[in-house]
Amino acid sequence: MVKAKKWILKKQFEGLPKKSDFELVEEDLSRDLKDGEVLVESTFLSVDPYMRVYKKTTGEVMIGSSVGKVLKTNNKKFKVGDKVVINAGWRTHAIVSDKVNPYELRHLAPLGDLPLSAGLGVMGMPGMTAYFGLVDVCKPKVGETVLVNGAAGAVGSVVGQLAKIKGCTVIGFAGTKEKCDWLKSLNFDHVFNYKETDVKTALDKAAPKGIDVYFDNVGGDFTVDALNYMNPFGRILVCGAISTYHDGSRKMVPDPFMTILQKKLTVYGFIVTDVLNRWGEAFPEMLLWLQQGKLQFRETVTEGFENMPEAFQSLFSGGNTGKAVVKA
Ligand SMILES: NC(=O)c1ccc[n+]([C@@H]2O[C@H](COP(=O)([O-])OP(=O)(O)OC[C@H]3O[C@@H](n4cnc5c(N)ncnc54)[C@H](OP(=O)(O)O)[C@@H]3O)[C@@H](O)[C@H]2O)c1
Repeated sequence: MVKAKKWILKKQFEGLPKKSDFELVEEDLSRDLKDGEVLVESTFLSVDPYMRVYKKTTGEVMIGSSVGKVLKTNNKKFKVGDKVVINAGWRTHAIVSDKVNPYELRHLAPLGDLPLSAGLGVMGMPGMTAYFGLVDVCKPKVGETVLVNGAAGAVGSVVGQLAKIKGCTVIGFAGTKEKCDWLKSLNFDHVFNYKETDVKTALDKAAPKGIDVYFDNVGGDFTVDALNYMNPFGRILVCGAISTYHDGSRKMVPDPFMTILQKKLTVYGFIVTDVLNRWGEAFPEMLLWLQQGKLQFRETVTEGFENMPEAFQSLFSGGNTGKAVVKA
């Protein structure tokens, strides 16, 4: 008998997610496995900003990924004990298959000595977002200036370090002194606490030659201000807009098109799962940089599956440094 737990969405979010929007329920996963299915126990679960804006139906399990091990298998590619990444939502256990969607069940990236949770962070979805979004799409060149906000988060902290590896000047914005100190220790050239420093004042100082690549995790007013500092033909990666996720009526970025026109900017929309079949290209280089210490990462670990909602909520008040995960 496999008694599993899952978090379902009880009520559609209005504004910031509330504990009462979620309900913890049990389910029995003792049934026989169909061809291609495996039963997985989650060790670490991911909480991510996209879960706030992704359309969900009330009563359905909260979406999301986890890393864990195979307990039972009816799939030749996966043995009992294999470490896997699954996309089955907020569940302690899940029956999954790779037959229809390879994102639902995958072997872990090579992690070397890294903890299992790194498969959800620097060597998982956020790390791949940073790698492909910055290196593959924006193609930063030596000597260019790269701006990243949400810079102490799972994606942003990797973006800034990859931009340093590529020989760029890096400007990062984050929301606390501790986060800014960490970014300075990672050799970001200019770091600002956006809660204490006006974006324009900061960029007047840090970007006298303008910005060539803007990796935008935050959107909203920050981006309106940042656009004025873009160099002609600069590149912008629209990765996310966390400052706008709670207000359905607000635009991700108010009226950017005149600036895009005048500066002849290139703006890329990017979704990391679109390049899922290419993640393997990034793994060797990312793992090497991690092993060489050129790339560092932090995780904010919340203990206990019952605390998933709190871990999720804290993304929107800056409670995490680096990747936010929950230890089941
Ligand atoms: N396009 C894709 O494929 C893709 C993939 C992954 C993530 N994303 C997006 O990338 C962004 C970062 O994701 P992540 O996983 O790396 O999250 P994260 O940065 O690890 O966590 C969220 C952080 O955002 C900051 N934040 C929260 N509210 C804010 C606000 N109103 N203004 C400015 N900063 C705010 C907080 O840090 P502070 O203390 O600094 O405020 C918080 O710690 C999100 O917008 C996410 O939706 C997109």
